[in-house]
Amino acid sequence: MTTAYRIPYRNPGHAALHLARAASLAPSPHNVQPWLFAEVGHDRGFEVHADTGRRLLLTDPGGREATIAGGAALFNARTAVRQLGFRAVVDVLPVPRRPDFLARVGFGAHAPVTRPEARMAWAIGHRRTHRGRFAPGRLSESLLDDLSVQARAEGAELQPVHDADRLELLAELVRTAEDRHRTDHGHAAELARCVGPWGLPAEACLGHPDLTVLAGRDYLGLAHRYTVPVRSRRVGTGTVFVLSTPGDGRADWLRAGQALQRVLLYAAARDVVAAFHTQPLELPALRAEVRTWFTPGRFPQMLLRLGHAAPTPRLPRRPLDGLLGHESAPASGR
Ligand SMILES: Cc1cc2nc3c(=O)[nH]c(=O)nc-3n(C[C@H](O)[C@H](O)[C@H](O)COP(=O)(O)O)c2cc1C
Repeated sequence: MTTAYRIPYRNPGHAALHLARAASLAPSPHNVQPWLFAEVGHDRGFEVHADTGRRLLLTDPGGREATIAGGAALFNARTAVRQLGFRAVVDVLPVPRRPDFLARVGFGAHAPVTRPEARMAWAIGHRRTHRGRFAPGRLSESLLDDLSVQARAEGAELQPVHDADRLELLAELVRTAEDRHRTDHGHAAELARCVGPWGLPAEACLGHPDLTVLAGRDYLGLAHRYTVPVRSRRVGTGTVFVLSTPGDGRADWLRAGQALQRVLLYAAARDVVAAFHTQPLELPALRAEVRTWFTPGRFPQMLLRLGHAAPTPRLPRRPLDGLLGHESAPASGR
């Protein structure tokens, strides 16, 4: 496969740096940051590529989650373009024979940033993934409506799971997946390799993974050492959601990632944080169950909880000089 960029890259444009910084703050599975960025010309545009070497081969063999992360990075780049006062012109999967070339973002006509867009841009640096319980208190109905509007604007559906029986069913599917992951040595080793000061620092996952109704990832192998009584898992779960798309190809995964990030930034701007429980979507039979019971006719892409929590430190990111290169791809597909 052709390489689209040269790294390291000297003297990138100011706008390219601004976009790369914003894009790199997107969420990604276990903070693997499976992306590379390229400047087009000198500050004429920006590309988002998948860094296939960073894919989690056991957790995410088809690259679905890595592409969702790329979509989230793309949404941040779009938001950063708006922050500069230009419309973002986006070309998704611009070169069909290069599936890892996720998107090209160009600078369109000048259009002053609006207040909601500025708020979204502010949230890029303030959004964090939460693990564990949320503070007591429910999200308002109007916020739930707004979040679903945000997801729909990107072509996805964000569906809350309120009903107790349905929540119990989803919790069972998450628990089954998490139990399989915990007892699969290869999977546990892949997870352990992500933990460290370069990616997911141990301090970020010190809480027991079983504090809420939905089982969390056991990054540090804590579940083998002690258990949390089932009755005390009922508090602090927050509101649970399934994010889905009508199709299940790379364009749909990119759509899911952009919708996810739009929802997360909208929420973060209102002091609402997300926790993720994507384990059943990584096992085809369990993903099919989630689909049957929660998103019939559509494809589940993310499982998350939203609620209020104390702020947590920002997790590390790869240095920009190893991430941002210069476009060297031929102009085919434009
Ligand atoms: C597709 C996808 C799946 C994820 N799955 C999980 C998960 O199951 N458990 C979890 O704790 N975090 C999950 N995350 C969140 C990442 O761990 C988090 O984004 C990363 O550690 C960087 O931290 P930040 O979001 O605070 O910047 C997921 C993120 C993405 C994009």
